[in-house]
Amino acid sequence: MSKILVTGGAGFIGAYLVKKLLEKKHKILIFDNLSTIGGIKYINKNCKFIKGNLENPNDVKKIAKWKPEIIFHLAAQSAGESAYSNPKNDYLSNGFGTYNLCVLAKKLNLKHFIYTSSVAVYGSNPEKKINEKTPIKPDSIYGVSKYVGEMFIDQELKKTKIKTTVLRVFNTYGPGENLNFLKKGMVSIYSSYVWRGKPIIVKGSLDRVRDITYIDDVVSVLCKTMHNKRLKKNEVINLSSSNSLTVKTLIKEIILASKKKNIKIVVTKSTPGDSKIFHTNNRKLLKLYPGTKFTTIKEGLKKYFDWINSLPVVKNLENYHPFKKVKFY
Ligand SMILES: NC(=O)c1ccc[n+]([C@@H]2O[C@H](COP(=O)([O-])OP(=O)(O)OC[C@H]3O[C@@H](n4cnc5c(N)ncnc54)[C@H](O)[C@@H]3O)[C@@H](O)[C@H]2O)c1
Repeated sequence: MSKILVTGGAGFIGAYLVKKLLEKKHKILIFDNLSTIGGIKYINKNCKFIKGNLENPNDVKKIAKWKPEIIFHLAAQSAGESAYSNPKNDYLSNGFGTYNLCVLAKKLNLKHFIYTSSVAVYGSNPEKKINEKTPIKPDSIYGVSKYVGEMFIDQELKKTKIKTTVLRVFNTYGPGENLNFLKKGMVSIYSSYVWRGKPIIVKGSLDRVRDITYIDDVVSVLCKTMHNKRLKKNEVINLSSSNSLTVKTLIKEIILASKKKNIKIVVTKSTPGDSKIFHTNNRKLLKLYPGTKFTTIKEGLKKYFDWINSLPVVKNLENYHPFKKVKFY
């Protein structure tokens, strides 16, 4: 049993991670300012919770008393497009917020600091397949701020005894994403149009390529990271299924999974900072986490639409978080 802090634990990936860690009998503290955009907000009742902002060092200091041994740092302004409407918030949350957490980590007897970075740090790369040695060249505000987070971890924690693992997460999807928010997550955005019975509006080319990874697989890798003896002291790993699809094929699969007919697709101009290809070979991940299996696109979208089809089309999805329906404890 470990004492684990999950920043962003009320968000999409965070809520799943917290649930899984609780099932493994760990003690959890969630730190979150509830500005969640990617997921439907969910605070697991079996955790301690601090409502706080990472940008505020005084809020961050409140964590110290609880003495976490491991930190999963997921809290972030998590959407590429939103960073353009409020770059200051993006930079402060993802950059300065991560710095504040690193400063606190050094004062704790911390064993492991695990950070969910993003594929966005690579930017649009001419290489077809990204790997961990691909040069960092973000071409979006969000990609810059997520990399600033990585740099602060490197600068502040590399020389300490704290083990650090940076997982560069690729497009993740699954039940619990906020279908009312149309600025984050390709699968969620396109599925949202289908859910609402509207034509799918695609901002940008149908030839863009993305790896998409099912939420359970992302969370399983995050959990295995804690006690993975294969990981060196400071490790950077791409977290992706390597299941790549063009936007065109992705939409075809979404429509198939939704079982709806006659859905129109409208292509409009792309959003700033959108990249052409995000695809990795995930060789390093499979070497360090042997036996890792990934959900196929068809299986993942089936589970996703089983959930979506159970939702009424409502503005506030807070009562429809997937964990509210099932009794886990
Ligand atoms: N979902 C994806 O496809 C994806 C892909 C790549 C990387 N990531 C990364 O994974 C992490 C989780 O993403 P998600 O999809 O769950 O997003 P999310 O928006 O659902 O969750 C992020 C959580 O962080 C909290 N938060 C934001 N700023 C904060 C601040 N300043 N102080 C305290 N809490 C704050 C929000 O309230 C929210 O609950 C993020 O770090 C994101 O950059 C996600």
